[in-house]
Amino acid sequence: MTLRLTPDDDGIARAAHLLGQGRLIAFPTETVYGLGADATDSAAVAGIYAAKGRPAFNPLISHVQDLAAAQREGVFEPLALRLAERFWPGPLTLVVPLAQGSSVCDLARAGLASIGLRVPSHPVARALLARFGRPIAAPSANRSGHVSPTLASHVLADLEGAIDAVLDGGPAAVGLESTIVAVVDDHAYWLRPGSITRDDIERTIGQPVLDVVSGGDENAPVSPGRLASHYAPATPVRLNATRIAPGEAVLAFGSDLPAGAEHALIVQNLSPTANLTEAATHLYIYLRNLDKLQASAIAVAPIPDKGLGEAINDRLMRAAAPKTLCN
Ligand code: TXA
Ligand code: MG
Repeated sequence: MTLRLTPDDDGIARAAHLLGQGRLIAFPTETVYGLGADATDSAAVAGIYAAKGRPAFNPLISHVQDLAAAQREGVFEPLALRLAERFWPGPLTLVVPLAQGSSVCDLARAGLASIGLRVPSHPVARALLARFGRPIAAPSANRSGHVSPTLASHVLADLEGAIDAVLDGGPAAVGLESTIVAVVDDHAYWLRPGSITRDDIERTIGQPVLDVVSGGDENAPVSPGRLASHYAPATPVRLNATRIAPGEAVLAFGSDLPAGAEHALIVQNLSPTANLTEAATHLYIYLRNLDKLQASAIAVAPIPDKGLGEAINDRLMRAAAPKTLCN
């Protein structure tokens, strides 16, 4: 049985208590819902991998209350400090070298010498972290390879019975997972696009963010979760669709529909006014909806690759890729 907890003092206290007992709790963040466990308890963290069906070589993000708590777990060079001060609390994950004396268990980091840290801005996540007082390891609260949850009902659709409770905080405001940047030896590396854009990061640090090239610089960070198909519905996803075949479900963007859209099974528009922020909040909800219709494919209209569009197109490319390794 999975408890539904209201996001008030009582619900948060019960969630924190369950975490302390090594249980699994889903909770809202501003990006997507997280599946949380005590990051210092390897048995609890093992439960996350089991509930999600996630490969254990793919590390988890540790969520902490503030920068001071993050600095007990990771080493913040000047570049990482600047990013943390500018964007925390908020939808940015920083991968930094592990601090000596870090309390986070090896399994949460998949044994890496680095750690992914994030200070979420969602008031329920912050209240839970304050009440719990230790880092919370949390991947997105979906089964491995499924679309990330932006509503408590999405969490339950995937994980009912497999987790102890879900704190229902309503819809996630951003709708896409956090931007991930690794900071190593005074260089910043781009690990995952999100609502904080590459431009935002580069403007803050005053230098380019480097891409991680496989077989490239041996000091560059590894990115175990990036090799992969991810965020995938069961229905095949077809990108940059400018012409629709009968029987397809259409994910439109902007006021111009692709040719033949009138023969589609259904048309859902991510943003009729071509607003990328609105499109991000709708992306996972609409992918879940369209995946229920037995359409021959989900045909996605072209989406501009600027700003937040980079993150939306990244998730769509993964949704369309062959399924191999997932989060
Ligand atoms: O918005 C988010 O980031 C959400 C919410 C719940 O915070 N979480 C999330 O977690 O998306 P997950 O596990 O689905 O994705 C985390 C990504 C994975 O691709 C993982 O490989 C990467 O972060 N990651 C975590 N620690 C890392 C590390 N030490 N080095 C490299 N990549 C790391
Ligand atoms: Mg995920």
